[in-house]
Amino acid sequence: MENLEPRPGGDLEAIETASRDEIGGLQLKRMKWSLTHAYENSSFYRQRFDEAGVHPSDLKTLSDLAKFPFTTKKDLRDTYPFGMFAVPREKLARIHASSGTTGKPTVVGYTQKDIDTWATVVARSIRASGGRAGDIVHVAYGYGLFTGGLGAHYGAEKLGCTVVPISGGMTERQVTLIQDFKPRIIMVTPSYMLSILDEFRRQDVDPRESSLAVGIFGAEPWTNAMREEIERAFDMHAVDIYGLSEVMGPGVANECVETKDGLHIWEDHFYPEIIDPETGAVLPDGELGELVFTTLTKEGLPIIRYRTRDLTRLLPGTARTMRRMEKVTGRSDDMMILRGVNVFPTQIEEQILKCRGLAPHFQIELTRAGRMDNMIVHVECIDDAAEDGVRAGSAKELAHHIKSIVGVSTKIEVHSPGGVARSEGKAKRVVDKRPKE
Ligand code: DLL
Repeated sequence: MENLEPRPGGDLEAIETASRDEIGGLQLKRMKWSLTHAYENSSFYRQRFDEAGVHPSDLKTLSDLAKFPFTTKKDLRDTYPFGMFAVPREKLARIHASSGTTGKPTVVGYTQKDIDTWATVVARSIRASGGRAGDIVHVAYGYGLFTGGLGAHYGAEKLGCTVVPISGGMTERQVTLIQDFKPRIIMVTPSYMLSILDEFRRQDVDPRESSLAVGIFGAEPWTNAMREEIERAFDMHAVDIYGLSEVMGPGVANECVETKDGLHIWEDHFYPEIIDPETGAVLPDGELGELVFTTLTKEGLPIIRYRTRDLTRLLPGTARTMRRMEKVTGRSDDMMILRGVNVFPTQIEEQILKCRGLAPHFQIELTRAGRMDNMIVHVECIDDAAEDGVRAGSAKELAHHIKSIVGVSTKIEVHSPGGVARSEGKAKRVVDKRPKE
């Protein structure tokens, strides 16, 4: 693996190494601006604040933010398409939207200044990951209404990289272009990176010999076990990037390659809180809860206390002075409850990666028999020629790990290589076949 030592401070932005006092001072100034902007220019926020009996002038310290109401995905749906924007529509340079599996998509909008801010934080993220001006960046996040592709693209350009905007899909061509263009950096979902890995092997090309030195993976949860798997397979660094469209897109937080110890939140633009998801109370740093964000500089769609539903904890800065968030273990929406035990797909991923005969592709199926919920884990064996006995052995091993570590009984189905559905973007980890109540 390329030796990526901490980089000399010279090319970091000053704010990346600012003192906590400086960061706090800037946040307070910007938070006052953001609350005032939202209140004065968005009828949605004005009504919300009035109903809650709060006014932007009530914010005297950062912790006063707790007095303000939360914003949720439902608010964005209810005001579809443009009802939450705080600038006239003509001032928007771009619109993105979530696919919206149920009902209407959530629509977000950016002014030109917002696009510039976004490019700045993504450029910062790529730099923290070990990218440098002049690198070729292969962007295999989807381009379009999804924020992944264009978000990564503008950031890579801003850093001074050469961008290959290949988007997701056409996996054979992904490998060809990696071989021919020799990118140093790849930006893609971790699950799609595994499909690209399969394709390297199918074409009989050694992934460890590829030009890739750093992968910047996000848009879905992935574990440290998966990091090791990818790093070993490609002889590259695998770094985590986090973001969500409602707050900006990719680049809200990113790991530093020299520490890989959680994601530094770019706190000069996004103010994080952790709350108890049941009561809404703000929890101290270090405690596990739901991540909430307030944008500090966004013009088009200021977001005040947005409930992400992502579960994590806030930690002090290490490679940077800005705080870190621990790798996201899962969304509260993805949590399955089986006979009283809470289970996240990432916990299953960790156990699969321990089984030597199994590939890291998986999907969880939930069914119900009578009043009992059942979980079937679909996985693949690595070796196509693996005999039934070997497969049964792997299934038994995985069931045992899941039972003893996660605490639930599962049925395991071991398929041949290619037998589990592949993603070209975010993987669909859970297929819920239980009858709707
Ligand atoms: O997924 C933005 C993005 C694109 C981030 C590319 C990183 C890379 P949404 O489609 O709005 O935006 O989905 C946001 O995806 O609330 C998390 O649940 C999940 N997510 C995003 N990044 C990570 C990550 C983009 N690094 C939702 N780890 C978020 C775990 C992540 N989950």
